[in-house]
Amino acid sequence: MTVFEATCTAPVNIAVVKYWGKRDTSLILPTNSSLSVTLSQDQLHSKTTIRASADFTSDRLWLNGIEESIEKNKRLVACLRETRALRAQIEEKDASLPKLASLKIHICSENNFPTAAGLASSASGYACLVYTLSQLFQLPLDASDLSIVARQGSGSACRSLFGGFVAWEMGEKADGSDSKAVQIAPETHWPDLQAMICVVSDEKKGTSSTEGMQLTVKTSALLQHRIKEVVPKRMEEMIAAIRNKDFPKFAELTMQDSNQFHAVCLDTYPPIFYMNDISRAIIRIITEYNKDGVKAAYTFDAGPNAVIYAPEKNMAEIYAVLSHFFPGATFDDSLGLLSKTSTLPPLPQNFDTRVSPVFAQGSVKQILHTKADNGPRVLDSAQHGLLNAEGLPK
Ligand code: DP6
Repeated sequence: MTVFEATCTAPVNIAVVKYWGKRDTSLILPTNSSLSVTLSQDQLHSKTTIRASADFTSDRLWLNGIEESIEKNKRLVACLRETRALRAQIEEKDASLPKLASLKIHICSENNFPTAAGLASSASGYACLVYTLSQLFQLPLDASDLSIVARQGSGSACRSLFGGFVAWEMGEKADGSDSKAVQIAPETHWPDLQAMICVVSDEKKGTSSTEGMQLTVKTSALLQHRIKEVVPKRMEEMIAAIRNKDFPKFAELTMQDSNQFHAVCLDTYPPIFYMNDISRAIIRIITEYNKDGVKAAYTFDAGPNAVIYAPEKNMAEIYAVLSHFFPGATFDDSLGLLSKTSTLPPLPQNFDTRVSPVFAQGSVKQILHTKADNGPRVLDSAQHGLLNAEGLPK
């Protein structure tokens, strides 16, 4: 019997112009356009196997080894409905195709990083789900078309369908058909751009992005200013900075946009705080590091973790600066940063270490070095699939 199965991985993306606010919560249509950098799947990815079989009696889903309900998850249901409808259309036109649209499926998905670390798991997760469905169903769609489906799983997921530098164009139409991701430049355009993710220790469970952003839409006057006056111009400037590989401009816009995103969170009523004392110390440290010229950019999403973008040549120095203030962080050195430099560079000569206290061991738990990279990848299910012969997690 033919096995209908696909296995893929999809990347995380970190926005440099943030998406925050929906104008339609069920179709997930944003109140402003946004732009992100896709990070390498060699460090962070979601991996998904989907099998369709006449032997299956219901659709089932396992996430990181635990079975979850599909029906209760409206966003997941929407992604399945959309991709099955597209499959049904091509089956109608070509009677020789196997009838996959009507078969039940088993989905098994896992992240190679802890969801609890507060990294963007919904973006890579939904991008991977939709991309794997498109492979299974052999859908004749390009990445922008697929981004329209992935967007309905999680807004930021639409940007993970591409590698490199990706804009999510907000669109205008009520049906969302023009609210999609487009690639501004591939990862090969600016290979020098790298990222360092600082996983900040935090016990509190913060407000989810989904809830937080709608409270902002309802209550923040500053958000209206951001949507109308700031983001349209910033998107243009950011696209130009990327095309020109102008790091100082890219960095300035990235930091300003992160600051404004957290400002609209503070302007939400009641206010939402995502950054903590450690996050704010990282801002002061990077600001001090940049005082004689912009060499690094920080950005923070809906949690305390920092992502620092910088050219490759600055990375060892940035790591040395961070290690000074945050001792005891484990360093994920899969890009071989420390093997290239036998000793860490000293702190820059005029760096004023009084900008921040030295924090307790483990305040930053982990530092992960990564870079811009490509979009979803197709794997060989026989070798890398997550389901066993019975269609259950291996
Ligand atoms: C701060 O995409 O997680 O990371 O669409 O409700 O699933 P939903 O929200 P989500 O929000 C991400 C917000 C952000 C900024 C960004 O990635 O642009």
